[in-house]
Amino acid sequence: MLTRTEWRQTLRKARRDLTDEEQHQAARLLAETLTTLPELRGVRRVAGYLANDGEISLAPYLAHLHEQNVCTSLPVLHPVSGNQLLFLDYHATTPMVQNRFGISEPALDCQAIRLPQEHQALLMPLVGFDDKGNRLGMGGGFYDRTLANLAGLPRPPLLIGVAHECQRADSLPVMAWDVPLDMIVTPQQVLRCR
Ligand SMILES: Nc1ncnc2c1ncn2[C@@H]1O[C@H](COP(=O)(O)OP(=O)(O)O)[C@@H](O)[C@H]1O
Ligand SMILES: [Mg+2]
Repeated sequence: MLTRTEWRQTLRKARRDLTDEEQHQAARLLAETLTTLPELRGVRRVAGYLANDGEISLAPYLAHLHEQNVCTSLPVLHPVSGNQLLFLDYHATTPMVQNRFGISEPALDCQAIRLPQEHQALLMPLVGFDDKGNRLGMGGGFYDRTLANLAGLPRPPLLIGVAHECQRADSLPVMAWDVPLDMIVTPQQVLRCR
């Protein structure tokens, strides 16, 4: 039985070891799957992310959403609340900056902030997942903190983890604060967990 730290090391290495060709192929297949996913039909606003550390890229899917005039958002490190995220509107001409992890994010603009519940779906990166919908992140608890109070809302967004198949674990050690996912989508499989 591996600890969370050991799972993070193993699964981050697995995704970083993928070749550029494997990454491209995975991103293309993922976009195809997301494009035809019934749960995402008719969405008006979706949050995604820009891939980092071997994460599966959402770029082809975000481009598809833009073509379809679906609004998109990206996570931004919260300027005040530690280890929390804000979601900011993201489009072709959004000014971008590098955050302290070296990840590109929309420049902070209060007008562009979108609440989690303004999205029909949040697509989240992850380090590891299991088939119960448990999500292991990089260890900062960013999404857990940001989404902690979402479940009580009348129309919470669908929480969808996206990942490479190599990020699957048999059974992850779960903590009380971990926010479970509704679905996990890999290039090979759609897992509905709730
Ligand atoms: N809702 C929350 N409120 C306060 N602290 C939290 C919350 N969610 C997570 N944390 C803290 O964040 C840290 C990292 O969480 P963890 O679940 O291990 O990371 P990750 O989700 O990135 O894998 C933990 O030490 C935990 O105490
Ligand atoms: Mg967590």
